[in-house]
Amino acid sequence: MSNLSNYQNAWQRAAHDAELFWTEHAAQLKWHTPPTSSGRPSATAEGLVEWFPDGKLNTSWLALDAHIEDGRGEQTAIIYDSPVTDSKARISYRELHQQVSQCAGMLRDLQVQQGDRVIIYMPMVPQAIVAMLACARIGAVHCVVFGGFAANELAVRIDDAGADIILTASCGIEVDRVIEYKPLVDQAIARATHKVRHCVVLQRPQAIAAMQPGRDLDWQEQMAGAKPADAVPVPATHPLYILYTSGTTGKPKGVVRDHGGHAVAMRYSMATVYGMQPGEVFWAASDVGWVVGHSYIVYGPLLTGCTTVMFEGKPVRTPDAGAVWRVCAEYGVKALFTAPTAFRAIRKEDPEAALAGKYDLRRLERLYLAGERLDPPTWAWLQEHIQRPILDHWWQTETGWAIAANPVGYGLEQVRPGSATFPLPGYQLDVLDDEGRPVAAGEQGNIVIRLPLPPGCLTSIWGNAERLRAGYLSQFPGYYQTGDAGYVDADGYVFVMGRTDDIINVAGHRLSTGEMEEVIGSHPAVAECAVIGVPDAIKGELPMGLVVLKNDAQAQLQQLNGELSALLRAEIGALACYQQTLIVNRLPKTRSGKILRRILRQMARGEEWTVPSTIEDPGCLEELAGQLDASVAVRYVADKV
Ligand code: COA
Ligand code: AMP
Repeated sequence: MSNLSNYQNAWQRAAHDAELFWTEHAAQLKWHTPPTSSGRPSATAEGLVEWFPDGKLNTSWLALDAHIEDGRGEQTAIIYDSPVTDSKARISYRELHQQVSQCAGMLRDLQVQQGDRVIIYMPMVPQAIVAMLACARIGAVHCVVFGGFAANELAVRIDDAGADIILTASCGIEVDRVIEYKPLVDQAIARATHKVRHCVVLQRPQAIAAMQPGRDLDWQEQMAGAKPADAVPVPATHPLYILYTSGTTGKPKGVVRDHGGHAVAMRYSMATVYGMQPGEVFWAASDVGWVVGHSYIVYGPLLTGCTTVMFEGKPVRTPDAGAVWRVCAEYGVKALFTAPTAFRAIRKEDPEAALAGKYDLRRLERLYLAGERLDPPTWAWLQEHIQRPILDHWWQTETGWAIAANPVGYGLEQVRPGSATFPLPGYQLDVLDDEGRPVAAGEQGNIVIRLPLPPGCLTSIWGNAERLRAGYLSQFPGYYQTGDAGYVDADGYVFVMGRTDDIINVAGHRLSTGEMEEVIGSHPAVAECAVIGVPDAIKGELPMGLVVLKNDAQAQLQQLNGELSALLRAEIGALACYQQTLIVNRLPKTRSGKILRRILRQMARGEEWTVPSTIEDPGCLEELAGQLDASVAVRYVADKV
């Protein structure tokens, strides 16, 4: 059988008998109580499914104890490489097991019960992984918040998750700048309405945090005094974590993932998408605060018995654009996964990839890219200089693993630049027009996934069933709406071209323009605004605010831009990268007063646009197009210089 038919067979089997297909894969895990074949996936009230409802297991046990049972105790579980602190460490599965058990005991001592939510706000240090696995061990639900988010974002998550405990560190390090976390945590706790009982702080030597007696506790001391806790078997449907992601409104959505379906999906995808076997070294160069970090720094590699690399640095400037190649060579990384933006940054510094030539990359078999579209020029540059399969794959926080990829586990390695390749088994994709009619091959439309979703995908939005229905399930009945536009060509290759909603992707970071608009709208000079993503040569997209001033406002562009930039930094975080404001006379609106953002996006991307029939004042479009054309073009030229 050819490799293509291997994949096609698997895809057909998963489509026609999903239960059988996934139960076979589930059987490869060590369950406390294996799911029975009569334990059919159960429908949730919101319209999704929960997999293996009568099975019991524990993700932390599978990621640690199971490997020790199998004789992998002395194998390295985590390689920590931190150019920003000039340190490196290796942690074996046995050592990790011991630290996680101790941390789980510490959580128990703090009265954390099964189902309780624990916020983890930490930089890229191994303790972040320890904390995640410790929560999982006792059935608590972790909620990791990316360290680059500002206090307000943390406060929103404390409230939405109803978290009583925060595990944090005194600081993170951005290249050569120490970013103190504790003042942000203090502000967040003060802003949140939900009361945080304790905040456990890992003191790092680069900044010692001030502690509030009674509430704040020292990580080292608590760990030292704790009695190790065993893993508690939980139902497969029990929530493992909540991960907040940007939606189209200001409030982030808490994507909930379970223990059982997630573990099955992680094991399956590590083998099928990344071709990884136990004992091999995998590196996802991302951050534990993002879904890539959850799935492929922590759970995928550790559930598979691989060695995972945790890198506390940047692809450039720590110390140079050779960092990625240095790490791959030094640790014998077999598969590297990062966002295209990282390679655009590397290419800018090292156009001929001369630094890659300094390292022995023979053990590096493949490169994986996701988080944003892998633009063909970046693909071609990597192909020319690295000369191994450069594989794009498409997924999102909600799915937790790839929707479309090159399934190397079935022996397939067919690359078509610009395409994320084929839908993986478990995902039945369709491309629909706005009225829900299928479009022809090669024609662009809304990419949707036929329900049910496979294991590992979201099971709900924390505390907000209506948002799940409205955001994902209602526009195209029977389908999950991905929010991405694209097409499938005549040979079945999937091309994902961009979002259909108000989400933008800045350096692989997903951000909500709606949230930025709320912040900009709070500036005293601003009457109304729209934020759109404009193309950027390195970061893919950058936000630009189109601002209508209040009648009596006297703002100067430069000053206003500085103030808005500072406001967004303080409210959302530096990662918003907001630096561009355009003062406009009017925004295009429908007769009912809704801002027509789609046309603004099309203008900013240089796409064709037509005057919408619903527009109230068509006259404003030409003027806006001219302003946008001028400023986006100026910025783009500046980037290229
Ligand atoms: N804590 C605090 N601040 C952070 C942070 C963190 N964890 N992460 C980023 N920031 C800050 C940065 O210091 C920077 O601040 P500045 O404007 O004061 O300099 C700002 O947020 C923007 O950060 P970033 O977008 O990362 O820009 P950069 O210029 O520092 O680096 C890249 C650019 C392309 C090298 C970097 O974005 C990168 O490595 N991206 C890889 C993609 C990735 O990891 N994606 C995750 C999903 S796969
Ligand atoms: P996140 O939830 O942060 O992982 O972001 C998910 C979004 O990033 C997707 O909905 C896409 O818009 C975009 N994305 C991720 N991977 C790809 C890819 N390979 N090609 C195109 N877009 C991608």
